[in-house]
Amino acid sequence: MIDDAFLTALPKAELHLHIEGSLEPEMMVALARRNSVAIPFKSVEEVRAAYSFTDLQSFLDIYYAGAGVLRTEEDFHDLALAYFDRAAADGVVHAEIFFDPQTHTHRGIPFDVVASGLFAGIAAAEAKHGMTVGLIMSYLRHLDEDDAFATLAQAEPWLDRFVGVGLDSSEVGHPPSKFARVFAASRERGLKLCAHAGEEGPPAYVHEALDVLHVDRIDHGNRSLEDHALVARLARAGMTLTVCPSSNVALRNVASLDVHPIDRMLDLGLRATIHSDDPSYFGGYIGENFRAVAAARNLSREQVVTLARNSFLGSFIDDAALAGHLDRLDAFVKAH
Ligand code: HPA
Ligand code: ZN
Repeated sequence: MIDDAFLTALPKAELHLHIEGSLEPEMMVALARRNSVAIPFKSVEEVRAAYSFTDLQSFLDIYYAGAGVLRTEEDFHDLALAYFDRAAADGVVHAEIFFDPQTHTHRGIPFDVVASGLFAGIAAAEAKHGMTVGLIMSYLRHLDEDDAFATLAQAEPWLDRFVGVGLDSSEVGHPPSKFARVFAASRERGLKLCAHAGEEGPPAYVHEALDVLHVDRIDHGNRSLEDHALVARLARAGMTLTVCPSSNVALRNVASLDVHPIDRMLDLGLRATIHSDDPSYFGGYIGENFRAVAAARNLSREQVVTLARNSFLGSFIDDAALAGHLDRLDAFVKAH
């Protein structure tokens, strides 16, 4: 068994985190009160009791409802800073996080309010914790491509500050190819490309993310394991899969952590990493994901260090920053 303190302090990058999914029940109730927004829960306990999911959609319904309490720049700042405080305590030295602009613009919150608040939280976290942060704008795939284009237009004044775009929400029935044009336009603007694929959707969706969207990173990707040729291709390409063990179990894509395929992915030569997805909803931040899956799968020290190393290799930082992070990771491992 690896020491929990080692796993917590191990330097790592967070590459798969929806900031709206870090809204803790306490903050949800406090912001509902601060903004006079009605929520169907009387207490923090009632919010928590509602967190029992059967699949991705049953989670998304609660996740979008919860995001309704976020209204002002200050709310987005507070949400982001609360997340970065937890991430820093979990050894995160670099984070590339998602936000869902359409979740907010569709209920009348201007894009600029969301972006200003998040960037204020990011600036505070960079100063307070010395971490670096990139922001990724995710398109909601249950909406149409025109809506994604409208979002890209709203994002225009901010584009040089975003590192990339992503694709999330209800996967099955909304294949990556639905967003081929807006991903091409996003790449032309200099943005990196990520897409959730193979979380609930079939391996064909992972193929589409590669062949049609030309993504730089696959989020989740678990169902790639059903397709041997795809596994070989992902391994050959050194494609990063941002895996989220607690999320996989909470949304019933994996029966339990005891049978989680994270070590099989490494054995197959896949560049898998470990992240937290929506930690407030799925029972733990990145440190808890590392600790829980390492214990459940009896991972070796070498395997967890590989997972941490992969998180830096899969990030969108430049070569000098990458070399610095890898040197510090090696020094940490030597010293512990
Ligand atoms: N999958 C798809 N969309 C999401 C998720 C997820 O795990 N979390 C937030 N939006
Ligand atoms: Zn996700």
